[in-house]
Amino acid sequence: MSDTLLVTGASGYIGSHTCVCLLQAGWHVIAIDNLSNSSPRTIERIQEITGRSVPFHTIDVRDESALTRLLNQENISAAIHFAGLKSVSESVNKPLTYFDNNVNGSITLLKVLHQQGVRKLVFSSSATVYGDPKKVPIQEDASLSATNPYGRSKLFVEQILNDLSQADPEWRIATLRYFNPAGAHESGLLGEDPRGIPNNLMPYIAQVAVGKLPHLSVFGNDYPTTDGTGVRDYIHVMDLAQGHVSALNRLFAKPESFTVNLGTGQGITVLEAVAAFEQACGSHIPIQVAPRRPGDIATCYASADKARELLNWQANKTLDQMVDDHWRWQSHNPNGY
Ligand code: NAD
Ligand code: WQD
Repeated sequence: MSDTLLVTGASGYIGSHTCVCLLQAGWHVIAIDNLSNSSPRTIERIQEITGRSVPFHTIDVRDESALTRLLNQENISAAIHFAGLKSVSESVNKPLTYFDNNVNGSITLLKVLHQQGVRKLVFSSSATVYGDPKKVPIQEDASLSATNPYGRSKLFVEQILNDLSQADPEWRIATLRYFNPAGAHESGLLGEDPRGIPNNLMPYIAQVAVGKLPHLSVFGNDYPTTDGTGVRDYIHVMDLAQGHVSALNRLFAKPESFTVNLGTGQGITVLEAVAAFEQACGSHIPIQVAPRRPGDIATCYASADKARELLNWQANKTLDQMVDDHWRWQSHNPNGY
């Protein structure tokens, strides 16, 4: 495939890994990011891994005129929209910042794409739109809800995209609901580089393993799960990235919009994740049991059936590969990029 794609949020964690898969699948990529939560070094590393060049522009997706100028110069066939803010706790304190970035940013991008005649989009949604699921594995037709501004921003954009594809069936939109991305590119050159203290489990464990943080606080050991700790569906970021290639292939093949989960279908507890990471790094990860984190749910994992049927995609990498790759990235780049 030699079409050109616009990738927003391309220097971020999932965007950078997805660029690698897109380039290796033969697509051309134009990368944009406002660098609010990432380093431009990711672009150098994507180029190093793939041997392909990636034009990069520092552009905010809310900047309509900069986007228009760029798209006037490039012949884009589709966009993948990763750009956005993603911290649940920060969103509670800064709701307007989150709605502006995630909702207004998406609307601005959609307007510019529409004006330029681009009608294919892949959108980064999240399992967070399922709120506290009534049953697991979670199917795509489960009821939706959100308990924080970040989650609501994803839900609002999903609704906007539904309305848009209803109003103009020429739009082909893939809404991808990611479960819990973890791991890194197997080269150790690309990985997650959170600013400040990580919010999420895997990067937190990784920073304990490398000696930057003293211990992991386990948020609750009295959940109704096998060992009392929270259960999540951790998906290797390269499997997730490959899911975008499959979603794009489907968008180019069939004139339809769709929503799918990207998860493994398997739940892992916090203690299982810690044990796997200890194997990978060869050292003990000190833990302290702490109170439950407000807003956390006990168990969340995907039904991966729809993605398998619709996209012919499934996650192939194991938990051990995920933590091995995460550790390689963290130990080779203890201070990130
Ligand atoms: P990330 O922060 O690493 O990447 C997002 C990128 O978007 C960053 O490089 C940031 O600088 C950029 N950005 C933010 N606002 C922007 C704006 N207004 N204009 C241009 N660039 C902007 O996060 P990620 O983990 O790679 O997440 C990518 C997408 O996937 C996000 O939309 C996120 O909400 C979604 N998602 C992430 C997870 C997760 O756990 N990582 C789970 C589900 C969904
Ligand atoms: C996983 C498990 C914690 C940190 C969040 C967002 C969600 C999505 C993914 C973007 C839970 C436990 C964690 C720690 C711990 N992001 N934990 N100690 O909560 O499933 O989802 O990231 O869309 O919207 O809410 O992921 O990695 O934060 O937590 O014990 O220091 O690890 O309680 O059981 P979560 P997480």
